Amino acid sequence: MNTQEIPVSVVGLGLMGCSIVTCLLIAGHPVVAVAPIPIDLDNAEDRIREHFVNALENGLVENPPEYYFKNLKITEDYADLRDCRLVVECTIENVMIKEQVYKKIEAHLPADALLTSNTSAIPISTLQQMTEHPARFLGLHWTEPAHTTRFLEIICGNDTDIKNGEYLYELSHKWGKEPILVRKDIAGFITNRLMYAMYREAISLVEGGYATVEDVDRACRNNTGYFMTLAGVFRWMDLTGVPAYHTVMKRLLPTLNNSTEVPELIDKIVREGGKGVANAHGFHEYTPEEAKLWEETFTEFTYDIRKLALKYPGDVVKKKLKEKREEGNL
Ligand SMILES: NC(=O)c1ccc[n+]([C@@H]2O[C@H](COP(=O)([O-])OP(=O)(O)OC[C@H]3O[C@@H](n4cnc5c(N)ncnc54)[C@H](O)[C@@H]3O)[C@@H](O)[C@H]2O)c1
Repeated sequence: MNTQEIPVSVVGLGLMGCSIVTCLLIAGHPVVAVAPIPIDLDNAEDRIREHFVNALENGLVENPPEYYFKNLKITEDYADLRDCRLVVECTIENVMIKEQVYKKIEAHLPADALLTSNTSAIPISTLQQMTEHPARFLGLHWTEPAHTTRFLEIICGNDTDIKNGEYLYELSHKWGKEPILVRKDIAGFITNRLMYAMYREAISLVEGGYATVEDVDRACRNNTGYFMTLAGVFRWMDLTGVPAYHTVMKRLLPTLNNSTEVPELIDKIVREGGKGVANAHGFHEYTPEEAKLWEETFTEFTYDIRKLALKYPGDVVKKKLKEKREEGNL
């Protein structure tokens, strides 16, 4: 698979669209970035350039932004999709908008190309019914910032041809991803199901008066967060002894929160207009300076954790075994 011969497109150039464009350009694809909203058309180039400047400063890329921009076309015209093999739709999380966008995309996209959505939570089986070629429609769920993170979920809807999922699984290795192929559609896909189970329990612990927001965050960072770049939940249980988990599950599972209501703690923040770091009001309170520094620190951290993650890929032990065999140490 030669990425230079696979023209791709991102439609919707907001927060995620711009970092996905950056990721695909770094991987070597010719990229058509479609920004039908005027403010996106005005801002996208600067946002993508800023990603490249940061990437250069942090050693993620070797060349200045202009080198990658040669492969980029930013346009408001859907007709520029005519040669694309893959589209990543990245517009706002709204079914009606996405449906309108698919019609415009499919008016120009070759019939044998793949159409994907970065939706966070709309079922792929629902979205694919709005398209002309459901077998070639998939979820492609990235995480921000897409050019530094190795996470990617590839989701098949009920009518997706699994071969298309397998193709994207192979191709996305070229994007620096360790992809997850979700073979059957399920609400929240994999990672959000895991994370929302944790968010619910975290909020419940705070609402129940067992710990503060600060303490729950500290517990996540220094237990779960400490090992998860190396080991997922199953590897973690293997590393630390499976029977203990079996014993604890019997006692603990019945006590975990299983409410289906949105908890009051988050509801109140949202009712009062809190957005988090974006407007300095969230579960934690921030001064404007603190909020800005959190954003900058998050960007800095994504580059540092990336270096550690590259040292410990999913097949780290297989690679070590191979090296040992080659050195005659096994
Ligand atoms: N932000 C995240 O961390 C994240 C993570 C995973 C998935 N997602 C998903 O990615 C998608 C985009 O999220 P985002 O965070 O980039 O949001 P965003 O609001 O930053 O970007 C959405 C963009 O869509 C554009 N848009 C609105 N109407 C449009 C239309 N009719 N045609 C074309 N473009 C239109 C907006 O102008 C905006 O730039 C959503 O479906 C979201 O759920 C976001």
